[in-house]
Amino acid sequence: MKRLECVDAGSEYCPCYLAEVGECLTCSQLQGKAFCDCNWRGVCIYQEYVWAGYKSKSNRITYVSDVISITPISDNAFMMELSVNSILSRELSQPGSYIFLRPEDTVSYFDTPISIMDSDLQKHTIKIAVQVLGPKTKVLNKNSKKVIIRGPYWNGLFGLKYVKALKNQNALIILRGIAQAPGLLLVKKLANQHNNIVVIVDEGKIGKDIITDDIRPYCKEIYHADLLSFSGQQLLQNLIAEQNLNFVYSGGSDEQHINILNYIDIYNPKVMLAVSNNQTMCCGEGVCGSCQITLDEINVKTCKVQVDVRRLIERRVLHD
Ligand code: FES
Repeated sequence: MKRLECVDAGSEYCPCYLAEVGECLTCSQLQGKAFCDCNWRGVCIYQEYVWAGYKSKSNRITYVSDVISITPISDNAFMMELSVNSILSRELSQPGSYIFLRPEDTVSYFDTPISIMDSDLQKHTIKIAVQVLGPKTKVLNKNSKKVIIRGPYWNGLFGLKYVKALKNQNALIILRGIAQAPGLLLVKKLANQHNNIVVIVDEGKIGKDIITDDIRPYCKEIYHADLLSFSGQQLLQNLIAEQNLNFVYSGGSDEQHINILNYIDIYNPKVMLAVSNNQTMCCGEGVCGSCQITLDEINVKTCKVQVDVRRLIERRVLHD
């Protein structure tokens, strides 16, 4: 757990501000230490920092985006389609992608993190689904014509290495409530890697299935269930107990992650597990600390760091 895996490492946004202030999440030298001790991923962050003139590389910028459409999903949720440029649509096409978003006429503290549901590389548009939970999401629904986007960000999902590595295997994807939305990019990626995909969709608190039509072409089977019911739990157990299963993804609350991990431990402990990142995020840049958790006595900024899913969930159980 000592070597943290920053999702931005090796990207055009690395090294970032944190390197300049001796707080790089991955590089020991950029933490002020005299030795080299990172989890090498093909790029030396320190070398990049030197080549950039002992400065951080390009910072994420904000874009003004046209709102193409706002479609109500239910009383407390809506879908938005937004225009973006070709670079951003490509950068937001991988599972776990998210942006910060606010209406054009509001100030930066209205920025709210929203997962990408889909990205159209031809039309240069993105689709998002928003559950109205407080002031930031309420103002977004007020017939905004233009919004301010900051991005791209990628750490909306823990277990990315399993997603990238999974090829020609059997995957079970569990999507509940508003967490159905980021499931679409995940399903597309896994289908692209020739995996057999089974999905459980639970309408959850938004009260609507928003994903089945989009994922149908990529899936072997789609079940609809209330995961809080007895029959939903039975379905979950039966599918996890399927011995040929290699990978499970839980998109939903931390309680759902715990529930699923418990079944995995009982019925199929070798299965790889990835989960949605539910931590509170404010800056997305490893600066503000709002997403920080402590794992093995190390402070971890979860907006950037890929954490071990099991440790994350076990920590949650310990703290409840
Ligand atoms: S959201 Fe600010 S440090 Fe992670």
